[in-house]
Amino acid sequence: MEFIHGLYILLITLTLFNHNLINVEGRNHLHTKKKNISTPAPSESSNEPTSPSNSSPSVPSDPYPNDPQDPSSDCIFDVRSFGAIGDGSCDDTLAFKKAWKAACAVESGVLLVPENYTFKITSTIFSGPCKPGLVFQVDGMLMAPDGPDSWPEADSRNQWLVFYKLDQMSLNGTGTIEGNGDQWWDLPCKPHRGPDGKTTLGPCSSPTMIRFFMSSNLMVSGLKIQNSPQFHMKFDVCQGVMINMLSISAPKLSPNTDGIHVENSQDVGIYNSLISNGDDCISIGPGTSNVEIAGVTCGPSHGIR
Ligand SMILES: *[C@@H]1O[C@H](CO)[C@@H](O)[C@H](O)[C@H]1NC(C)=O
Ligand SMILES: *[C@@H]1O[C@H](CO)[C@@H](O)[C@H](O)[C@H]1NC(C)=O
Ligand SMILES: *[C@@H]1O[C@H](CO)[C@@H](O)[C@H](O)[C@H]1NC(C)=O
Repeated sequence: MEFIHGLYILLITLTLFNHNLINVEGRNHLHTKKKNISTPAPSESSNEPTSPSNSSPSVPSDPYPNDPQDPSSDCIFDVRSFGAIGDGSCDDTLAFKKAWKAACAVESGVLLVPENYTFKITSTIFSGPCKPGLVFQVDGMLMAPDGPDSWPEADSRNQWLVFYKLDQMSLNGTGTIEGNGDQWWDLPCKPHRGPDGKTTLGPCSSPTMIRFFMSSNLMVSGLKIQNSPQFHMKFDVCQGVMINMLSISAPKLSPNTDGIHVENSQDVGIYNSLISNGDDCISIGPGTSNVEIAGVTCGPSHGIR
């Protein structure tokens, strides 16, 4: 009896301790679920009061198929749980939009693109504001529609993946983002792609693969980004961008496939990356200040300018 009583007190103490820890960290998680302390919060989070009602009314109530033992499973939103197939031919756009909405609504949410699957999505704007610490993690492959004929009429032909109005967000993973650019490069309007080796007039807009717009404190790392129809990455009106360990590639003769373009942005670091493509390696547009580039290998592209 003594022993059981002791255990009981220990249990209560542990429970209180857990609660205190959560409060000290001021995390703003789904309090409707039991959860463990997992990874530390990425930064001192705000002390805004956490009422259960302000945490993500949009999260589906279905349990996620993640291992319930996994202490971080509350924050991981695998696109397959939202209906994505990942066979490389189905259109998984809707599932990505749903997963984004759910991950956006919790602090340090992770939208997971799992390895060994290839997901095809059409032009999509992933917009904020979201809770801080959001991670868009691509461990598998994320693929654009295959050329202009497969591009839905209703979609913008200027952009594919757009990240908009975000703060403290990471795009990373061990996977690949594939632009399927080859049919775009062959359009007769592109430099020297016309029938007689000349450029012909005509609508020529081709999508930038990944565009960050009006966002701050971004991290992009680890990924392979390849075969963009046009620029691979573009940062416009962004503050605080950290790019590390990217591999960007497109064929030498692919037109306008700039690696990373930055404009109207401040405090941008581009490090330890390999960029081989058909146009500028890194291009810096107007309104940009405090750009640091180190450990970047360019070639055969046009270099940094
Ligand atoms: C919570 O953490 C404790 C201690 O680290 C561990 O023993 C327990 O299995 C974890 N529970 C869950 C649901 O992850
Ligand atoms: C992905 O495939 C590799 C090779 O078949 C395998 O070793 C790995 O465990 C797979 N990963 C997952 C998450 O299934
Ligand atoms: C992705 O970024 C998050 C947050 O910065 C980090 O915790 C995680 O380890 C990163 N994952 C990879 C594969 O780099």
